[in-house]
Amino acid sequence: FNDEAFRHDLLTWYQGNKRLLPWRENQDPYRIWVSEIMLQQTQVDTVIPYFNQFMERYPTIKELAEADEQNVLKSWEGLGYYSRARNLHTAVKEVVEKYDAQVPSDKKELKQLKGIGPYTLGAVLSIAFNHPEPAVDGNVMRVLSRILHIDEDIAKPKTKKLFEEVVKEIISYEDPSSFNQGLMELGALVCHPKNPECETCPVQQHCLAYEHGDQKDLPVKTKQ
Ligand code: ADE
Repeated sequence: FNDEAFRHDLLTWYQGNKRLLPWRENQDPYRIWVSEIMLQQTQVDTVIPYFNQFMERYPTIKELAEADEQNVLKSWEGLGYYSRARNLHTAVKEVVEKYDAQVPSDKKELKQLKGIGPYTLGAVLSIAFNHPEPAVDGNVMRVLSRILHIDEDIAKPKTKKLFEEVVKEIISYEDPSSFNQGLMELGALVCHPKNPECETCPVQQHCLAYEHGDQKDLPVKTKQ
């Protein structure tokens, strides 16, 4: 596996093929944070209108912090998993009080905020601040399990840690944001759960599962 060539091909493809999504318009850490919280349990197409409306109502972290909790929850109506909204609101208030309304770029500080788990932590650090941190979710595990032919059960928590270590080894230090989003985009547009479009895949020549011809058997996942 040639990680340098892989990074190059993934980044080139991402630059030319990324979707123009509202949270990709700029690198405002607040917008990235909100988008990643919304995207955790909800599809991109569903998130887009909620995200746009949320940003219209609460354009800055201060405006969200000062909002009434009931109104924030109303803005979340339809997205479900309301603890995401409550935790976000709590965390945003803490950022205003403790960090003068600036989302911290320090890993330890960011990690302590309510609702920021390992995935959101890595996503915000890499996408908003360009830090070389892994942002591994189910889609990224599917893509990397195929490319690197990793047949560990992705339902096991330990496996996610393995993938985070793998990403640390192969991530682009030039452009960690595009690297992580490139993996997500590949999962969304090409490396589908069923019927991956290997014939048009920009990293086909790096894919060990494609070489073995068993991409349909990966990732391995026991429980649902
Ligand atoms: N899913 C999770 N984060 C995402 C992002 N930044 N862009 C597209 N899909 C995503």
